[in-house]
Amino acid sequence: MIALAFAALFAASLDVSHYVENKDPAVKASIETFRDRKIGLMMHFGLYSQVGIVESWPLVDEDAHWSRREVERDLSSDAFKKAYFDLNRSFNPVRYRPEDWADAAVRGGFKYVIFTTKHHDGFCLYDTKYTDYKTTAPSCPYSANPRADIVKTFFDACRARGLGVTAYFSKADWHHPDYWDNCGVGVRTTRNPSYDIEKDLPRWKRFQDFTRNQLLELVRGYGPIDCLWLDGCWIYGEGPKSLNLHDVVAEARKTTPGLLAVDRWQCTDCEDYVTPEQYVPDEPLTVPWESCITLADNWGYHYDDGYKSPRQIVHLLVDVVAKGGNLALNVGPMPDGRLPHPAVTRLEALGDWLKKHGTAIYGTRVQPPHKSGVWAFTRSKDAKRVFGILLWKDGDREHHTQLLGGISSLGTLKKIVHLATGATIPFTVRADKSVVVEFPAGFRRDAYADAFELFTEKETGAK
Ligand code: GLC
Repeated sequence: MIALAFAALFAASLDVSHYVENKDPAVKASIETFRDRKIGLMMHFGLYSQVGIVESWPLVDEDAHWSRREVERDLSSDAFKKAYFDLNRSFNPVRYRPEDWADAAVRGGFKYVIFTTKHHDGFCLYDTKYTDYKTTAPSCPYSANPRADIVKTFFDACRARGLGVTAYFSKADWHHPDYWDNCGVGVRTTRNPSYDIEKDLPRWKRFQDFTRNQLLELVRGYGPIDCLWLDGCWIYGEGPKSLNLHDVVAEARKTTPGLLAVDRWQCTDCEDYVTPEQYVPDEPLTVPWESCITLADNWGYHYDDGYKSPRQIVHLLVDVVAKGGNLALNVGPMPDGRLPHPAVTRLEALGDWLKKHGTAIYGTRVQPPHKSGVWAFTRSKDAKRVFGILLWKDGDREHHTQLLGGISSLGTLKKIVHLATGATIPFTVRADKSVVVEFPAGFRRDAYADAFELFTEKETGAK
């Protein structure tokens, strides 16, 4: 409840006026590709997945009240931190198959993936040169597996299937000796470094260099990467107390022209699109955006998670797309590396829906009034086609007519075509110009939503 209220407050106040548009033509082209793709599969996988607890955050004493709930109560904070950081010694997702993950993404209609290369706990799922805290180090049992470089094997499988690839990377690294003293043991940890950066700039400089090296390593060795998705919004700015991301991204673009960067919620030139988290903005935004939203209740795998229904997911996607955004739908793989069954079935339902109605989703742009009652609107990028998506409510089965409101600005409605079947759907225009769509007997509506192409004629006679 509180979370919802907070999200609503935040939604209303999402201020994008400081958004800095990148004028580089290669970046602009990448933004267009990003906007066309519409739907990305986000995945949080890491040490936390093994035990089914909140990702990384239980390491922070200041955040323990919400994040450490699933942890044994009689464990002291220090004992817990040690046990958590030791999870690299048991991380062994023996049933991880990169092609299964990538196939599930394709099957679900996703056009790109966003994968946790490193979360705040610092454990790297790739063969970084800059720390031994990684899947490929001998300390981790999974290192003996040929798929131990999870990022490489997964990204390769994705690109082989035409999926875009975004690297989630945490700016904070709670395992690094130049972030927290002694891995936070004996320290009352907060999300920030355990020391005053200003009083020890050389130490922070080491952390800056480490971050730069790791990011360039990903871009140079795991590419082409479409976007660096930089989480950890509390580390910001430019200059000695920052991570100098402007320079890092400029350097990375020498390897990958047009690379996007999402330094979350900073409104700097390293935030090529904005990333509302766990909510959809109330209205279309004037800047490129992507809502990241969990399919279940958590980012990482939880044993007893609750999953959104296929209807909720389809409606969520339509809401996002009608407002001109992208949806990053998050799934947390299981400790053994497989995707949870409830997630797979939902992704399949989404993929089935997109196969039939995806023309009204992919590559579209905002079509005012974007929503009206049970209808949402989109248009093709070239503005030649307009789509109306009817969001069926649960139990709507008996409705053979639907009021199609809010389209008078589009001109006079001439024809309605059901995208899934190509059938022309009759309608009547009432005296007050409202349109009633009349589904013919035998029309088999979709369980969640149906998309239609709306052919209209402007008063001038042109379409
Ligand atoms: C939140 C969580 C973080 C997660 C992120 C994904 O910020 O705290 O752990 O990775 O959402 O957007």
